[in-house]
This record gives sequence, C-alpha cells and structure tokens, in this order.
Amino acid sequence: MADASRSPLHQPLLHESGLRHTSGEARYVDDLPAPHGLLVAQVVPSPLAHGKLRSLDVSAALKVPGVVAVLSAKDVPALNDVGAVVHDEELFAFDTVRFLGQALALVVGASYEACRAGVKAVKVDVEPLPAIVTLDDAIAKGSFLSKDHRLTRGDPAAALAKAPVRFQGEVRTGAQDHFYLETQCTLAVPDEGPSLRLYSSTQHPSEVQAIVAHVLGWGRHQIAVEVPRMGGGFGGKETQAAPYAAMASLAAVKTGRPVKVWLNRDQDMLWTGKRHPFLTRFDVGFTKDGQLLALEAELFSDGGFSMDLSRAILERALFHIDNGYFIPDVRVTGHVAKTNLPSNTAFRGFGGPQGMAVIEDIMSRAAERLGLDPVELRRKNLYGAAPRDVTPYWQEVRDCRLERIFGELLASSDYERRAKAVATFNAAHQHAKRGLALTPVKFGISFTTSFLNQAGALVIVYSDGTVQVNHGGTEMGQGLHTKMLAVCAHELGVLPERVRVMTTATDKVPNTSATAASSGSDLNGFAVKQAAETIRERLRPVAARLLDVTPDDVRFGGGLVSSVARPDRKLPFEKVTHEAYLAQVSLSATGYYRTPDIHFDRATGRGKPFHYFAYGAAVTEVEVSGLTGEHRLRRVDILHDVGASLVPSIDLGQIEGAFVQGWGWLTCEEVRVDDKGFLRTHSPDTYKVPACGDVPLDFRVSLLANAAQDTTIHGSKAVGEPPFMLALSVVAALRQAVGAFGKGGEVPLTMPCTPEALLFAIERTRAG
Ligand code: MTE
Ligand code: HPA
Ligand code: MOS
Repeated sequence: MADASRSPLHQPLLHESGLRHTSGEARYVDDLPAPHGLLVAQVVPSPLAHGKLRSLDVSAALKVPGVVAVLSAKDVPALNDVGAVVHDEELFAFDTVRFLGQALALVVGASYEACRAGVKAVKVDVEPLPAIVTLDDAIAKGSFLSKDHRLTRGDPAAALAKAPVRFQGEVRTGAQDHFYLETQCTLAVPDEGPSLRLYSSTQHPSEVQAIVAHVLGWGRHQIAVEVPRMGGGFGGKETQAAPYAAMASLAAVKTGRPVKVWLNRDQDMLWTGKRHPFLTRFDVGFTKDGQLLALEAELFSDGGFSMDLSRAILERALFHIDNGYFIPDVRVTGHVAKTNLPSNTAFRGFGGPQGMAVIEDIMSRAAERLGLDPVELRRKNLYGAAPRDVTPYWQEVRDCRLERIFGELLASSDYERRAKAVATFNAAHQHAKRGLALTPVKFGISFTTSFLNQAGALVIVYSDGTVQVNHGGTEMGQGLHTKMLAVCAHELGVLPERVRVMTTATDKVPNTSATAASSGSDLNGFAVKQAAETIRERLRPVAARLLDVTPDDVRFGGGLVSSVARPDRKLPFEKVTHEAYLAQVSLSATGYYRTPDIHFDRATGRGKPFHYFAYGAAVTEVEVSGLTGEHRLRRVDILHDVGASLVPSIDLGQIEGAFVQGWGWLTCEEVRVDDKGFLRTHSPDTYKVPACGDVPLDFRVSLLANAAQDTTIHGSKAVGEPPFMLALSVVAALRQAVGAFGKGGEVPLTMPCTPEALLFAIERTRAG
C-alpha cells in the first residue's frame, strides 16, 4: 500500500506550471523555437456568408515575393473535410461558401507580410446567395442540421391542463467567445517516411491526428500530435483546432518544410465557433404554493453552417433542463438550426448552461408571479427521496446533495439577515436597488457519448527513482497535470518534485478522448493510478528482499520504502529502483480505465448517461444602478461539491474562474452579428470580457466538507464545468433588483444582462 500520511493528495499544491506561467517561461506552440526553414501562413477568407464560388485565381499571389505556395481544395490529396462527427465541413470551400470568413485557400510563405500580400493578390469571385444569419430566420425558414431530439416522462399535456398555475414564455441565451489567451495554433514538421509531427494547441490530439490522416490519405501511424499546453481551451479547441492543424499539415507535406498556422485575435474571433445561442419556448405548470408540476419545452440552438458537436451539445441542454429540480411530468424537444455562420461548438458546460438557464428563469418568473420567496420555491422543488428522484431521462438521482448544500450555504452566507438588509436598502433608495439570490447546480459527469469515457496512461520510472507521467489528457490551465502528478506521487510514494508530467503525445498514449466533459482527472486519474500501481507492485518484492521483510510489510511513502512492522528499516525509493533495474525488472507500465455502467438509448430517451452528478450552489448579492443599468457583485458565497478534492487549491481556482466566466456570458459578453453575417464584436474593443476589477468585491468560495464520492478517483469529483453555472445566481439576483424598481409581477429582463438590457427592463418595470 501507499502511505497516505505522506501523500500529496487532498493537499494544496502549486499548479505544476504556475511559476512558469507567471514568469513567462511556459512555452505555448507559438513560442517553440522555429525549426529550420519554417514557413507561416494566412487564410484566404470568404467575403460573403453564402454564395457560389465561381472562381479562385491564385496566380498573382504565387508571384508575390516570399510566397512559397497557395493551397486550395484541389490540392487536398484525399479528403477535403475536417468534420469531427459528420463529414459536412470542407477544409477549403470547393464550390459553395457557407459563412463569411470560411477558408478558400491558404497562402504559405516566409513571413506574415508576404502571406498577407499574397492573400490580397488572390482573386475571388463569389456569386451571392441568400444567407441565413439569425436563429429566428433559420427557424422561420425551416433550416435545420438536426431535428426532434426528445426526452419524455409522464403525461405533461394532461398535467399542464390540470395545473392550478400555468404560464408560457420564451428564454433566450446568447453566444460567447472562448477568449482563450492563446489563439488557435499548430506547427507541423515533416519528417521521413513520409511522416509528420504536429505541435498543436488542441484539447483533442487524437482527433487532430485522425483528421490529418483523412485529409492526407495516410495511416494514423504516420502522424504524431503533441500538445505542450494550451493557453486555455474552454471547449473551443475540442474540435476547432483541427482545420488549422490540417492546413499546416497539408502545407508541410506540399512544401517539405515546417509550417505554422496561427490565427491572430480578430481572425480567431471571426472564424471559429462560439457557445450556441439558444431560443426556448416553454409551457409550465405549478401549484399555487410553487410546486413544479409539469414542463413542456422546445429548444432551438444555432449550430452555424456545419454539425460539429451541436447534436451532443443540444442533448446535454435537454439533459440539464431540470437542473436540480424534480419535474413530475415533462417533455423537452430540441432542434439544431443551420445558419450561414461559423460552426458553433463546445464551450464550458456544453449546452448544460443553456438548458439550466431556462429552468432557472422559469423558477424566478414563478416566484415573481406567485409572490413567493424564490429560495423556498427552489428548495421545495429539489430532487429528494423516491419518487422525487428520477430525471427526464429516467436516471435515478441518488445521493442528491442539494438540500444539504442549501442548508449549509444559507447559514454560512447569513442569508436571512442580508435579505432583510437588502429590503431595507431598497426601501430607502430610489436610484439603486439590490438583489440577493440563491441558485443550485446539478451537473451530469461523463461524456454522454458513452464510449468516449476511456483513458490511458504510460508511467516511466528511471533507475534513479525519478518519474515521468504520460496520460491521455491535455493541460489547458485547469490543473489536470498537477492532479495526475499528485495521483502518481501518491501511488509510488515519491515526492512530487521527483515526478514530471510530460507533454501530451499520441505516440505515448494513443486513441485518446478529448480532454472535455470535465472528466479529465476522473478518467486519466484511474489510468495513471493503475500504471503506477503496476510498477509499485513490481518493486515490492525487490524492496522486501533489500529490507529483509515480507512483501506485504513493505510501504511506499514520502520518497522512502519502509517496513510497517519495523519502521527503522527503510530505504530511499531510488535505491529500490536501482536494484530493480539490476534485477532486470521492468520500470514502465501502461494503465487503462473505462467508466463502468453508463449507457443511454437515444431512440427511447432513457438510460444512465452520467456516472454521477456534481452539485453546488451560490448566493449572490448585486446592486444595480437605475441611472446607468450597471451593476456590481457585492458579495458571492459559493459552496461547491468536488467530493474529496484531489488538489483543493486547483479546485478553488476552477470554481472562481468558472463563476466569473459564467458571469461574463450572462452579463457583459454580447456577440453581435450584422445582417451580412459579419461579426461586429471581433476584438476586445467591442467585446467585453470580465476583468480583474469585475470579480465580486467579497468572494467566498468553499468546498463541501466530508463529501467523498464512491467509485471515483480517490473520492473526488469533476470540477471544470459545473461551477460555470453558479453564475445563474447573478441573473436571479439581478431580476430581484430590477423588480424592486417596480410594484411586482414578472420582471422583463433578458440575457445577457448588459447595462442596456437592465435599463430597458427597469424602465418597463417602473412603467408597470
Ligand atoms: N480551466 C482553465 N484554466 N482553462 C480551460 O480552458 N476548460 C474548462 C475547464 N476548466 C478550461 C478550464 C472546460 S470546458 C473543461 S471541459 C475542463 O476544464 C476540462 O478539463 P478537465 O476535464 O481536466 O477538468
Ligand atoms: N461533453 C463534452 N464534449 C463532448 C461530450 C460531452 O458530453 N460528448 C462529446 N464530446
Ligand atoms: Mo469542455 S466544453 O467539455 O471542453
């Protein structure tokens, strides 16, 4: 066994790259030393959102000094497609252009200046076709990528007909740019064979490898993809690194030289997909005292021009329409609209936030209409004991922790006293109003595409006792490598300083899933654990011989191998590894894990798609100015369930960051596309992301205590996405503050709650 008392697990740890991040030494793909003969590239973008590509004349571009090659659809040797799930996404547009900015060609040259001059010299003739650039227009015209996804339980039509309180409405949520600090980037280096090594900023190296193989008509064994680290991904690099990696690869093979494709900020914002905007129409029934009876909802998402991950994202929205609430009778239907916009994609929460925003808006509206305390209304609808424990997809909610979290958080946030203080403040102030709200989060953990829930690892111990860990996950700042380091150090009983997590590479750990669905540490953690255990158990007999004890008396911990019965007998770990090497014992091992017992049947809408649920809740206090519509987060209290945290310092950072990113989506980030399909908000001067000055003035984040989870890695729970949705408490609090400007009734506030939207809502509320 490993010695738990000396384990780095469940202790605060510095992020494994924290010092390098802050000193600037951390290398991202674009920072790698330029290989000999490096070429760079620029994309030739479509000038229109929709049209027939009549001609593409690159001859003048080829004459520009410094331009080495210009590649388009006809230069693709095998498959001109980079679709992740279905083949509906051309690498280069061939005869039709489908969004403004779609790649028509790639100019490759010695410098960005030469490439840009080359792009200008390309002559493009596109015959305009009618374009659909809004979700509403797509719905009106019946333009869809995927239709009629459905979950049903009970008889909602009958239950609605009988409901004492029934109302209908619409909820809209907006797009969101990922705004990762590092934009899309891949460096492709050709080698003999032929073969390629890619350095890519991707959450999904195995998919990049597979797509590049398709485009080139190669076997995957000819391609290795390496991910040093990402400067953020947030879902935006789950599928959308692949097109640029494919362009770099194609150019590297054509020119025989290393090629880097990197997007600048404006290009990245203009051409890559965002969080899906959603429109939902609902019909809901309650009792007079606020018990939820039935819900029918129809969800529409804007998928953009191609499928990408839209189907799974829509599905996760349907899976999260309940959030933490039991809905006795329910039917939810969903459709993915097709527009002439970049293909929308994964973004933290993966549709979950869009689904949960609907039910939280419904809960707020019900409280406003019925004149009930919104906390009590929410609380009485939480999942509980049978029969109130079944989701709309028929998975049982065992071990719902929301009632416990509500109780602890209401007490620790001093909710009751502060609610009174807010009422007093509001009575005394005409031009400023406060709101105080609590909302829960329940988020399903697992890829809903069940087979993706697998991971591998390769652990290497050198004879000097130092360790390299390879696993299938990628590091994007979320701290996965730090957690894997702690898991490995724990199993081998070595000090964390003696362990190094290597860059992710498809030739170390193959056939990996994306690092996504918050499952990176759940899946890779077990794989690393298994590999490290295998090596430790090989070392055990060697150590027993050296210590002259029985093998089951040997304990590994704190860099030492010792006897449990005779603690004076101990050896440094490196003594044991050295002896094991001399004794011809293998010091490397792989590990593998798949999540047991999850399944979902799309045809019937039933199953157990999630291994477990992550829970949390936030109490948020806001103050809104009735003069400017601006607001401040006065205080935010979060209690979040990460099980027995693998590394609490990392988890706290994830929760804080996710909340602030969610606040950005819901309040200040507004994506505006004009009637030509051109993104007007394509740089930070027009697109406002949260800054340090926006974080809550008083921010209190706690991890739920005594919360170890069964059947997860060391009792921990996934943390990456769930706390994003805690930001829905801001909207609930803003609705209260806006309501306080008027005399009651439903508050007409829409998301994102920008100052403009708030002012508009305040005016309407004041007018009654
Ligand atoms: N945290 C940072 N700092 N940067 C990121 O890009 N991505 C989020 C989350 N936290 C992200 C992040 C998303 S969308 C996911 S799915 C998870 O991290 C992925 O990592 P994990 O599975 O290791 O939690
Ligand atoms: N989450 C994130 N990414 C995914 C999922 C999911 O549920 N399914 C497929 N890709
Ligand atoms: Mo996260 S949206 O699953 O990459």
